[in-house]
Amino acid sequence: MAFSEKRENNGAAEDSNHSRLIKLREFDDTKLGVKGLVDAAVAKVPEIYLDHSSSGSVLTIPVIDLKHPNTTAAAAVRREIVGGIRGSCEEWGFFQVVNHGIPEGILDEMIQGVRRFHELDPEIKKRYYTRDLISGFFLVSNFDLYRSAAASWRDTMGCVAAPDLPPPEQLPDATRDILIEYSKQVKQLSKTILELLSEALGLEPNRLNQLGCGAGQLLLGHYYPACPEPEVTIGVTDHTDASFITILLQDQIGGLQVLHRNKWVDVQPRKGALVVNLGDLLQLVSNDKFISVSHRVVPKRIGPRISVACFLRPLIHKGDTDSPPVYGPIPELLSEENPPVYVEADVREFMRIHSSRGLDEPSPLQHFRV
Ligand code: OGA
Ligand code: NI
Repeated sequence: MAFSEKRENNGAAEDSNHSRLIKLREFDDTKLGVKGLVDAAVAKVPEIYLDHSSSGSVLTIPVIDLKHPNTTAAAAVRREIVGGIRGSCEEWGFFQVVNHGIPEGILDEMIQGVRRFHELDPEIKKRYYTRDLISGFFLVSNFDLYRSAAASWRDTMGCVAAPDLPPPEQLPDATRDILIEYSKQVKQLSKTILELLSEALGLEPNRLNQLGCGAGQLLLGHYYPACPEPEVTIGVTDHTDASFITILLQDQIGGLQVLHRNKWVDVQPRKGALVVNLGDLLQLVSNDKFISVSHRVVPKRIGPRISVACFLRPLIHKGDTDSPPVYGPIPELLSEENPPVYVEADVREFMRIHSSRGLDEPSPLQHFRV
């Protein structure tokens, strides 16, 4: 089966290579080049010029339905969910979840809350503008503004959301109530997702939660204004997240892309769904079984686009823990055939390396490789 399928695919690829060759020869034989096409007033860019590597890929990232029936079939359904997550984490480092338990009304209101804040009167908004991302609610444009080669077409509001949100009186009216509610819901969902990920790694369901993988959370509300020249800039440069996992809510505009087998694949907005992606710390503790994948956001002429990212991280700030947390590959995942590929990393050092580089520089994972 597999063999004949493969032959058929190769056959299809050969056919398409052959027809491309014919078209290239036809074009070459005109001897008039691209100028000739333009002089002939072609309405569309001919097929031979279409760059399928940059966009328009037909692939889509996996969608996992988290609905558990309350019947005897529950165990089998859970095995299927865990299997789906394992495959997605090995192949893509990205998946979307539906039926995750957070009501759609809360998702919509969270997007509106981020929008209301970014569209506040400038004089009110300005009071929150700071590059200190730890001490309270903040507004900032580009964390890596002074380190990146080009600035990104994006503003960001946010705050630490776990272990605790800032006191309510420090949160702006425009977004306070929904921020508190959404953060509560995401905390609940992160527990569930970390359980499923533990099982997908073949570990006890509680393992990643006990390791503190969701103990610290940073919540960001991105605002990507409509861009007059989307082809010359970027919304978020190509990067991997430092987190264990990131839970992302996006509106219906689109623009998020993930790198899959060297091609950028659109993460299609899906009403009611949340995107989950793995960060570098999960790749480290899973000893490369699961992957943290590059992603980016391309700007658009339409907008604003709004997204809300919740990064699940260990406790890293002063006062959170007495001794600095250290993470290495989880011992149960190691064996003679599967020796550790990372040394133990002090996560404060890990985060420092991550945030002191431009988003477009290599991930700190390289730094901790054996
Ligand atoms: C991020 C990120 C994607 C988005 O905040 O790390 O990748 O869609 N955001 O805003
Ligand atoms: Ni990211």
